Amino acid sequence: DAPLRDLAAARGVYLGTAVTGGKLTGGYADTAATQFDSITPGNEMKWDAVESVRGQFDWAGADRVVAFAEAHAQKVRGHTLVWHSQLPSWVNNGTWTADTLRTVMTDHVTTEVSRYKGRVDHWDVVNEPLNEDGTLRRSVFGATLGESYIADAFRAARAADPAAKLYVNDYSTDAIGAKSDGMYDLVKRLLAQGVPIDGVGFQAHLILGQVPASMEANLRRFADLGVDVAVTELDIRMTLPATAEKLDRQKSDYAAVMRACLAVTRCAGVTVWGFTDSDSWIPDFFPGEGAATLYDEGLNPKPAYAGVAGTL
Ligand code: XIL
Repeated sequence: DAPLRDLAAARGVYLGTAVTGGKLTGGYADTAATQFDSITPGNEMKWDAVESVRGQFDWAGADRVVAFAEAHAQKVRGHTLVWHSQLPSWVNNGTWTADTLRTVMTDHVTTEVSRYKGRVDHWDVVNEPLNEDGTLRRSVFGATLGESYIADAFRAARAADPAAKLYVNDYSTDAIGAKSDGMYDLVKRLLAQGVPIDGVGFQAHLILGQVPASMEANLRRFADLGVDVAVTELDIRMTLPATAEKLDRQKSDYAAVMRACLAVTRCAGVTVWGFTDSDSWIPDFFPGEGAATLYDEGLNPKPAYAGVAGTL
């Protein structure tokens, strides 16, 4: 069978995966390279990974993932520049005025985007800016700077790499609802202010049997604002143990998400948040749940793999 990346390319979308840089050898590397045409570093580009101590940079992990992608003619989704989580404590717990925090933030964006200029296709510039009710999250950035930090982050990213596509990304915005309404209004305001935003990412950390019926309509309403959309962190978790019945349901759930993207012209692609159950964040973060990806722990394709392939 043709690899997923070839099937996706023929449909005009990319199919990406998050990876763990330290595992990129053997069968794990082979599958990542063969099946996917976009790579997201799962952790290696986050602020705490690249500058856990102020002024001391460590790009080794990020460099390795970017080099892997280049060696296999894959796009890179840079993840992520400004986020309240996996943020070094010197930033999160610093004593800031609006001016000093804004400068620290934009310097960070400039430094990281410049380092990978021309090598990162899409940046998740701002990750998870919203609360569940669609209001601005009171992270250190939101609380200190208000919504203006988002515009400033995008402007700094655009200046550092004019060719990269710049995205805002969030979870629980996959369905039409309070949180996605908040994102919709935010993107509209940013566009009205001339902020250089190219796309909206929908993480899609979904639960078995709960792919939102409104997902396609939701993606479309954002696309109609004149931005690209992408599914950026897809996984579909289930209560363990996995059974044949659950895995079959997961197959149709994965297919439903793929169809939602494929139905929207401006949906650039879909990224899965890890391709094997042996490298998924779900069991660590949702105790008792797992089996959320396309391949089992032995790197054998699950029914969900065929579900994705069947839509392409
Ligand atoms: C997760 C990683 O997969 C884990 O390895 C890490 O311990 C925590 O973060 N939303 C995001 C991702 O935007 O960066 C998160 O990744 C999953 C939720």
